[in-house]
Amino acid sequence: MMIYDLEEIEELGIFDGINEIIATTENKLGAFNAAPLGLIRRGDVLSVRLFAGSHTYENIMSKGKFVANVSHDPMLFVETALNDIPEDKFVERDGELTLKEAEAWALFKCEPKNLDIALPEVEFVKGEVLEREFRAVNRGINLVVEAAVAATRYVALKSDLYLEEIFRIRRIVGRCGGPREIEAMDRLDELIERFD
Ligand SMILES: Cc1cc2nc3c(=O)[nH]c(=O)nc-3n(C[C@H](O)[C@H](O)[C@H](O)COP(=O)(O)O)c2cc1C
Repeated sequence: MMIYDLEEIEELGIFDGINEIIATTENKLGAFNAAPLGLIRRGDVLSVRLFAGSHTYENIMSKGKFVANVSHDPMLFVETALNDIPEDKFVERDGELTLKEAEAWALFKCEPKNLDIALPEVEFVKGEVLEREFRAVNRGINLVVEAAVAATRYVALKSDLYLEEIFRIRRIVGRCGGPREIEAMDRLDELIERFD
């Protein structure tokens, strides 16, 4: 089901607050990129906070657009935060670069000249619901996402405080998560070690 109206954005799973999505973008040469990104929604206003230097920043700067992929796969958050995913994980839908396993996707436009301000607004263009997911809240997956945030900060700032946070999180994921969450935490450890 395609959606073009901002009034219907909740159909795509995008609600008020910060929506942790996987942004897919292309660079000038056509290389694909995927990385977690917080899509901020306050009513009808959507914005992002992009740290300069990432591929996502560079690609949005040059193309003026990105696709927000909605996913509940903890492994996808870990892999795209700290690593690259293979090209066969991407697929073109309605002319846009999306992730094969997305539950929904939404295309946003962004004025490149606005990217340097603190919270540049982005404009919803269109989106599609692919799979309706209904599930209870699980502390495990939310904590894997939290650990992935701590890991990207650790890689950037190298403070051991982030490692301690990840260590605390791992115990709870072991208790509350399913096999996919536990596998994702193991992978997170492996990827962090690569940066040490
Ligand atoms: C859940 C989550 C949310 C994130 N949100 C943002 C964000 O809003 N803005 C940002 O610049 N980086 C954010 N990051 C960090 C980037 O995903 C990370 O720096 C990534 O390595 C960038 O990859 P890239 O160079 O391929 O774009 C987030 C990471 C995670 C795990």
